[in-house]
Amino acid sequence: MPDPARPGRLEGKVAVITGAASGIGAASARLFAAEGAKVVLSDLPGEALEAEAAGIREAGGTAVAIAADVTSLEQCDALAAGAAEAFGPVDVLYANAGIAGTGTVADCDPAMWDTVIAVMLTGVWYSQRAIVGQMIESGGGSVINQASVGGIVGVPGIFPYAAAKAGVIGMTKQSAVEMGPHGVRFNAIAPGTAPTPLVTAVYEKGAGSGGEFSTIEEGLANATKKYPIGRLGTVEDIANLALFLASDESAWITGAVHVIDGGMSAD
Ligand SMILES: NC(=O)c1ccc[n+]([C@@H]2O[C@H](COP(=O)([O-])OP(=O)(O)OC[C@H]3O[C@@H](n4cnc5c(N)ncnc54)[C@H](O)[C@@H]3O)[C@@H](O)[C@H]2O)c1
Repeated sequence: MPDPARPGRLEGKVAVITGAASGIGAASARLFAAEGAKVVLSDLPGEALEAEAAGIREAGGTAVAIAADVTSLEQCDALAAGAAEAFGPVDVLYANAGIAGTGTVADCDPAMWDTVIAVMLTGVWYSQRAIVGQMIESGGGSVINQASVGGIVGVPGIFPYAAAKAGVIGMTKQSAVEMGPHGVRFNAIAPGTAPTPLVTAVYEKGAGSGGEFSTIEEGLANATKKYPIGRLGTVEDIANLALFLASDESAWITGAVHVIDGGMSAD
């Protein structure tokens, strides 16, 4: 956790991370706290969320858990108010919560479409809508939107997911232009595959870039062949990029989509 020998890269900042009970969000919460941020971990209610926040505190970091479903404007407003009450105005929002979304243009279940858009497009906006006002009032902030390389290039079988992620990229550019004069930066991260429960859920439906396979492990091994770097990502790879975008080191970067995919989409 915070290293007394050097100032943290997020020292003095208050960061809210949605989807922080698992995967990339949990890894980012740990890293942000280790770099001196006061971290508000948010996710659907549950033991995993509380355990992640407690783990950070036990390691010497500063963190609270505030449960919120990002599809609820009321719960996002309560998250924003709770974060400000705990630590003061929010400086960083990592809108990361997500779910698997599978199907094709021809067979995607409309109920799946509605859920995926609610969580990963409307939910990204709702969490921002609640928190950006605090950033404007306090003179600035950094919003990091979790997109996907699947929002940029076609990946078989993830039609609603790709649509939501492409929408997040549009939202990011739009908001960067609107909010730049207020000192609020908006950036999108577009990762390739980093195995997490979400990725397993996609592969279980036979979707994703694993091609034909009989086990998840075989699918992931197949997918690895598409990555010039020779491996899939880790949640820490992506957390490191989020840390840079959260910090003042990226002060002149806004409205950008940051691909992090081991070279996959360059092929
Ligand atoms: N892992 C990858 O390969 C990958 C690649 C590209 C993009 N992403 C994106 O990264 C983000 C994090 O995914 P992950 O891979 O860490 O998955 P994950 O399943 O480990 O974590 C996602 C978290 O989001 C939470 N969540 C789901 N619905 C929610 C809701 N309505 N309100 C609040 N929280 C909710 C889940 O409970 C879970 O804890 C997602 O937006 C995902 O689309 C992941």
